[in-house]
Amino acid sequence: MKQSIIIDTDPGIDDAAAISIALNHPNFDLRMITTVNGNVGIEKTTANALKLKQFFSSDVPVHRGSSQPLLTDIIDASIVHGESGMEGYPFPEVNQQDLTSKHAVEAMRTELLNHGEPITLIPIGPLTNIALLLSTYPEVKDHIKEIVLMGGSAGRGNVTPLAEYNIYCDPEAAHIVFNSGLPLTMVGLDVARSSTLSHNTIDNLQSLNQTGQMLHQLFKHYRGDDFEHGINVYDAYTVLYLLHPEKFHVQEADVQIETTGHLTKGATVTDFKSSFPNCTVVLSIEPDAFKDIFVESLKYCK
Ligand code: RIB
Ligand code: CA
Repeated sequence: MKQSIIIDTDPGIDDAAAISIALNHPNFDLRMITTVNGNVGIEKTTANALKLKQFFSSDVPVHRGSSQPLLTDIIDASIVHGESGMEGYPFPEVNQQDLTSKHAVEAMRTELLNHGEPITLIPIGPLTNIALLLSTYPEVKDHIKEIVLMGGSAGRGNVTPLAEYNIYCDPEAAHIVFNSGLPLTMVGLDVARSSTLSHNTIDNLQSLNQTGQMLHQLFKHYRGDDFEHGINVYDAYTVLYLLHPEKFHVQEADVQIETTGHLTKGATVTDFKSSFPNCTVVLSIEPDAFKDIFVESLKYCK
């Protein structure tokens, strides 16, 4: 049974891996890609989404979203993903005509209300668009199956000692999403750090297919944390969790977002002992199991 999904993204090199799988895996019906300010500015994240749409000759619509967080200042991660946000592969210039005119929040509302069955939202960037959607149009909640997001950490952060980048970029938006009452799965830094892809595995992508060659070139420019040990393809864990949930170790918790602390802003304060959990936290997967499902899923790409 195909899963109807929407990807909200800030491509982003690891976003590119998640989007490649979402666009091509037979178990997904990707209804749209919505973009958000995050790794780089909205114009660049949107252009990068269009580059991937063009690379796969896809008719999935791309809708541009929020250009800045709800309240906090814009930061960017071009030091990790390159100036363009997806450095390393010579994508042809995109046709701006490929970009739909409807704003991401409006497009998600229309799709959710008209699709006919609940849709899974997969945010893999800051949660600005999702918070605006839920706050502006609460009636869409009945049409959302669940939210499976890349963000947060039950342990240490990556942008500060305690905060993960997507949450840190817009902690107020994260607070709204984590307290929405919707079924929520937090795919944080923890699971990727338990199954870092080796550089050898990344090198072997070159012989897989054109998508493997594209991702290999991108990953050679990706300067994520722990780069000396390998590649943490954070965003890809969301779609792979939806495809193979049985392979992951998860635990229920109450997760609340620090929005004010000078040193702690953006921390996902994770209480596994709470009697009132608000989300499922994805904690780990056997490294070889992740490598296998990652490569297997990419085989559906060109
Ligand atoms: O912390 C990792 C997350 O921040 C990933 O989504 C990556 O693309 C960046 O957005
Ligand atoms: Ca991302």
